[in-house]
Amino acid sequence: MKWRTAVRESDSAAVRELVAATGFFTDEEVEVAVELVDETLANGKSSGYEFVFADAPDDSGRLLGYTCFGAIPMTVSSCDLYWIAVAPGKQRSGLGGQLIRESERLAKGLGTTQMFVDTAGREKYAPTRAFYERCGYRKAAVLDDFYAPGDAKVIYAKTL
Ligand SMILES: CC(C)(COP(=O)(O)OP(=O)(O)OC[C@H]1O[C@@H](n2cnc3c(N)ncnc32)[C@H](O)[C@@H]1OP(=O)(O)O)[C@@H](O)C(=O)NCCC(=O)NCCS
Repeated sequence: MKWRTAVRESDSAAVRELVAATGFFTDEEVEVAVELVDETLANGKSSGYEFVFADAPDDSGRLLGYTCFGAIPMTVSSCDLYWIAVAPGKQRSGLGGQLIRESERLAKGLGTTQMFVDTAGREKYAPTRAFYERCGYRKAAVLDDFYAPGDAKVIYAKTL
């Protein structure tokens, strides 16, 4: 795997393709993922978003996974993990775990003491919740009917 944190122009399209390919996100959510890349390309670090990209080690250099995280404004040292996605063909081979650990390491280096991540409570997201729990996140809150009637927001947290 080739690791990098710098955002490239090609990441707008690569992130769109990767996030859409997971089949986990609405078109609106895919647009938001791309917006965070575009905002960072336009404004650099002042955008407040940090990234970890994992590119294929072969000639294709295809984006196989990424995270996007950032300090939560108006908190002393809390950070949100906004996005994590691994290409469907590469899931369940440890890449998600590597991405989240590297993001935590970088966030800690920037002074983060607590990492938060939101996910959904519905059945489709059971593997995602299992992933966060396996990575040491604790269920900090459940907001019933948040995304839609019957679809809760589940907030996970981890002390770094
Ligand atoms: C969630 C996601 C990032 C995990 O990445 P991954 O590379 O598949 O995860 P890993 O291989 O590092 O898995 C680490 C551990 O998490 C747990 N886990 C991961 N996927 C799981 C699944 N489908 N079912 C149950 N547990 C799972 C396991 O304990 C796994 O360890 P193991 O394989 O040794 O049992 C990836 O599945 C993904 O992109 N999902 C779709 C998008 C998504 O849900 N993003 C988060 C939105 S909030």
